[in-house]
Amino acid sequence: MIILVGGEKGGSGKSCLAQNLAVYLQANHRDVLLLDADPQGTTTDWVKERDENSNVKNISSVQAAGNIRQVLIDLSKRYQDIIIDAGGQDSEALRSAMTIATHMLLPFRPKRRDLKTLVHVEKLIQLAKAVNPKIYTRAVITQCPTLPSQAQRILDAKEACESFDLVTLNNFTCNRNIYDDADENGLSVFEMPASDKAKQEIEEIAKEFLGEI
Ligand SMILES: Nc1ncnc2c1ncn2[C@@H]1O[C@H](COP(=O)(O)OP(=O)(O)OP(=O)(O)O)[C@@H](O)[C@H]1O
Ligand SMILES: [Mg+2]
Repeated sequence: MIILVGGEKGGSGKSCLAQNLAVYLQANHRDVLLLDADPQGTTTDWVKERDENSNVKNISSVQAAGNIRQVLIDLSKRYQDIIIDAGGQDSEALRSAMTIATHMLLPFRPKRRDLKTLVHVEKLIQLAKAVNPKIYTRAVITQCPTLPSQAQRILDAKEACESFDLVTLNNFTCNRNIYDDADENGLSVFEMPASDKAKQEIEEIAKEFLGEI
């Protein structure tokens, strides 16, 4: 699988999802590579932190920029799964990865500023599908409020995505400090104590998006 995690909005949780999905796949005996296409290098920094921790398994990673289509074709011969952290804006890396990815995951917080980017994201997806009609594209709502009284916000965000023809996963992540605490230390939520709810969120997202591994 070539799994592209991308979008138009900074801070929506792309790096966090890419990293947690990488650990999930590795734990399911897949040979995984993280490709950091974000010039900010968030995922590269996370991998370095992780390398320094002898209690957790390393994850292979590489940085790439510009047109990464051929890089992906070459790497896909060596790894079972590649997860691309495409960074927070429209870029040549994002567009070229879309032409070859098998999966594309687009995180949105249930916030107006995130959802405003749907207009542009819809055009990007149309372009991707013109050259890569099999790409499996899903939105995921992230950093959702946990209060039951705020549940309507999550449903409204899902509806907004679907109004732009973007099928949205039923599973979402809630706003939990454990995500932040994990990624500051090169860890995933799977390696954190007292993180059952976050673990379950990532597992459910992975199963719904990627199917049973
Ligand atoms: N579900 C969540 N609950 C709480 N915090 C979260 C959640 N998901 C991500 N975060 C935190 O929010 C911040 C932004 O997340 P992340 O870096 O993954 O976003 P991004 O989309 O990759 O941002 P950028 O566009 O800058 O690359 C990080 O500190 C991350 O730990
Ligand atoms: Mg990021």
